[in-house]
Amino acid sequence: MKRDGAQKSLWQEVPDYVSKTTSIPDEVFDVVIVGGGMTGITTALQLQKAGKKVLVAEAQTLCFGTTGGTTAHLNTFFDTDYHQMIKDFGETDAQLVASAAKASLALIKENIETYKIECNYEVKDGFVYAQNEKQSDTLADMLEASKKVGVAVAETELIPVPIPFQKAILFTGQAQFHPTKYVMALAKAFEEIGGIIVQHCRVTDVKDNELALLIESESGTIKAHKLIYATHIPPGINLLHFRCAPYRSYAMAIILEDDNYPDALVYDMHDPYHYFRTQEVGGQKYLIAGGEDHKTAHVTNTEECFRHLQSFVSKYYSIKEVAYQWSSQYFEAADGLAYIGGLPGASENIYVATGYGGNGMMYSHIAALTLSEILTGRESDYSEVFDPSRVKMVAGFSSFVKENADVVAKFFGMRIGRTKLTELADLAPGEAKVVDYNGDSIAMYKDEQGNLHAVNPVCTHAKCIVAWNGAEKTWDCPCHGARYDASGKVLTGPARKDLEMVPLRELEKE
Ligand code: FES
Repeated sequence: MKRDGAQKSLWQEVPDYVSKTTSIPDEVFDVVIVGGGMTGITTALQLQKAGKKVLVAEAQTLCFGTTGGTTAHLNTFFDTDYHQMIKDFGETDAQLVASAAKASLALIKENIETYKIECNYEVKDGFVYAQNEKQSDTLADMLEASKKVGVAVAETELIPVPIPFQKAILFTGQAQFHPTKYVMALAKAFEEIGGIIVQHCRVTDVKDNELALLIESESGTIKAHKLIYATHIPPGINLLHFRCAPYRSYAMAIILEDDNYPDALVYDMHDPYHYFRTQEVGGQKYLIAGGEDHKTAHVTNTEECFRHLQSFVSKYYSIKEVAYQWSSQYFEAADGLAYIGGLPGASENIYVATGYGGNGMMYSHIAALTLSEILTGRESDYSEVFDPSRVKMVAGFSSFVKENADVVAKFFGMRIGRTKLTELADLAPGEAKVVDYNGDSIAMYKDEQGNLHAVNPVCTHAKCIVAWNGAEKTWDCPCHGARYDASGKVLTGPARKDLEMVPLRELEKE
């Protein structure tokens, strides 16, 4: 299975999904879902089951984006902890989010049972541990608030990782699974009840002509009454681009020398935090470790992030082999909760689900429940708390929005004035950089065979300058997270157009 980077994740050892359909049927769909990842496919199945005629348009192949690079933790708690939620949103809303997490877990379990999906689903305990006074205080608040909103949690004296700690809490009823096996099985179930999946179908434009949305794609025009962007950040220029920041996270699947694999989901409290769990695939156990998150395109030597992660793990475990290592992208919401519902500033027939932070597995199913309720005219308990148009001026909100705006300004300013083109000779195979040539910036990449690839580094979304991600061999945009392959082809939105190619031969003649 393919994914949006050069590194391979543990979940890619499954074949690419083969859809029943390769072309767009000439009919008007009730709902078109853009994006064939966890959110898109789960939501599509919910809606098709509810009697809607649904088409999923995937620009690449199923699970190509973040779903193929998750670490698949199923939790009753979130990166924004309940203490913070109560402070920012009040106890009632925090309770709603806790109940949404329970509903999300229940939906995953129901899907697995209904469709008899073999995806290594296992219920596990979840541990969060503190290693200093400050973290212990935060953990105490977390414990009290989690209890207040009805989440099963207790203090514990033991944790299942060989790491010193001061204080720890235990959440029961967490779970884990194999995410791509799960999504592929749901996709099959969706097609079996009449749903349509068209892969390699990048959506390029959407027009609302009153009778229906006209959705232009690389495979032709799709007509629909409603559209959902299940692409993380939506394309176009939108308020949500200033309220969501893209981050990269790093993960490894490690074979240990001994059998010291933790039988639980475990998290420390650093910022960014590290996490552990164990997954068995094909009879082999793997320790999945993750962390080292940073804002997209703010680190160019991304190989270093893997080295840091490995050295952190090797302090506590005997590593036999790092079998897989990969990085993945997520979007952090300004006020800490996901945005699920109508897309602000767009036609009332267009919906979105984004801003999941590190809780994609949970939020994808909360989105499936919420959006399927909204789009079938039912009451949704969660539509208000996750409303993308909400304005919650939580602590740090203005600086978050300003920082994102500054990022745009800063990178506009960096268009001129990089290393001289002559320095290109320094590029080793597999290396890349943005260089200056007669006042224009050019993004250059030298492939393993020594061939140079040159593209215009101006992101086609809103004109920020992309930066090289050495580990994944991609051009990543720091502003809203668009990603392009080494030759400039769009991998993930919000950009819809490839980076402009710079004809190298002509340059060389000048
Ligand atoms: Fe918005 Fe690049 S993703 S400018």
